[in-house]
Amino acid sequence: MKGGYDHFMQKEIHEQPESLLQTMRGRVQFQRPAVGNPYLTQRIKLGGLVEHGSTIRRCRRILLVACGTSYHACLAARQTLEEMCEVPVSLELASDFLDRRCPIFRDDTCVFLSQSGETADTLRALEYAKAHGALCVGVTNTVGSAISRMTHCGVHLNAGYEIGVASTKAYTSQILVITMMALQLAEDSISKRERRDSIIDELGQLPGKVRRVLMLDSAMRDLAEQLRSVSSLLFFGRGYNYATVLEAALKVKEVALIHSEGMLAGEMKHGPLALVDKHMPIVVIATRDGMYKKMESVIQQLLAREAQLYIVCNEGDESMKQYEDKGCKLIQVPETVDCLQPVINIVPLQLLSYHLTVLRGLNVDQPRNLAKSVTVS
Ligand code: UD1
Ligand code: BG6
Ligand code: NA
Repeated sequence: MKGGYDHFMQKEIHEQPESLLQTMRGRVQFQRPAVGNPYLTQRIKLGGLVEHGSTIRRCRRILLVACGTSYHACLAARQTLEEMCEVPVSLELASDFLDRRCPIFRDDTCVFLSQSGETADTLRALEYAKAHGALCVGVTNTVGSAISRMTHCGVHLNAGYEIGVASTKAYTSQILVITMMALQLAEDSISKRERRDSIIDELGQLPGKVRRVLMLDSAMRDLAEQLRSVSSLLFFGRGYNYATVLEAALKVKEVALIHSEGMLAGEMKHGPLALVDKHMPIVVIATRDGMYKKMESVIQQLLAREAQLYIVCNEGDESMKQYEDKGCKLIQVPETVDCLQPVINIVPLQLLSYHLTVLRGLNVDQPRNLAKSVTVS
């Protein structure tokens, strides 16, 4: 059942090259169409969105609604949706959306992300948005689930069963689906064509790159050995990787039961910096995207406070080597296009949280007090 793995979480982390491929199967044309062939310009086809695509394109705003890890996937892919659709995209934690009785209008599109398709708060938020006349779109891993049935349309992740309570492969497939959704919605935009094509080209490379990043498994085990007794672990990132740090911290707290927080690096000086001293281990995401220079300055400021740094950077990034000489550990990952980099960057941190948990002798697949699907509010 666990296919030779010790735990479901471990199996599901290692399945990601395959689950990502399944999410794309039959939906992506990986080859660029021949120049000038108008019949082949559509490279992404999510069957569930075809009918409502024009309504979504014309909506006044898109709200992404979810809980837990599914919410982090919304955060990771939001910028791509904004860039491609040029409509405001807001994020809602389902419980807070309900607590506020968030104003919803008929020309809104509400997207509900849920691995299980049964999370009570997300389901209640869907009922609320539907009653207010919004177009309701589901993104779920579970065919026949309540959210799949009750939404007007949507996309199944096709990532395969996820059994470990801590979500891993569903997270990366959720980022992928929202990104594909953005690409499909922008398919008529000529000005975005080159950018769109360059992202789709990278979709084809993604499973292979995730397979490569999984080779960091034993390095992450060694890192977990070093960190197994820390009382707190911080993660700093920004831009596309703000989601990565929130998700990494959630993994560490929920399975390894270590206090952990993901911090938006742009907020560092507004409080978090006060926590930093030579005893504080911090993971910094500094892969090469538009935030790279800013993250380098974050690294320097953290080093000035003698923090113990673990830097997630791209393979072959020569300028990061100087920090290795200053005692930082580098976690080198394959490079992809900026908006897909969070799919790769989370993988070593999933491995880290897995190994921390095992080394600490805790229950990986069934962390105390938690349930796979929270079906009561
Ligand atoms: C569908 C079939 C797939 C088949 C393919 C062939 C299903 C479940 N999927 O996949 O087996 O190989 O056509 O073209 O039969 N939906 C919602 N809410 C959600 C998720 C989905 O309403 O949260 C709806 C979609 O709008 C769509 C249907 O469910 O009408 C199936 O969605 P999805 O499986 O994503 O569609 P395809 O990928 O086209
Ligand atoms: C629970 C799970 O808290 O619900 C998490 O333990 C999950 O892994 C969250 O992210 C939301 O679940 P779903 O099924 O709505 O994505
Ligand atoms: Na439906």
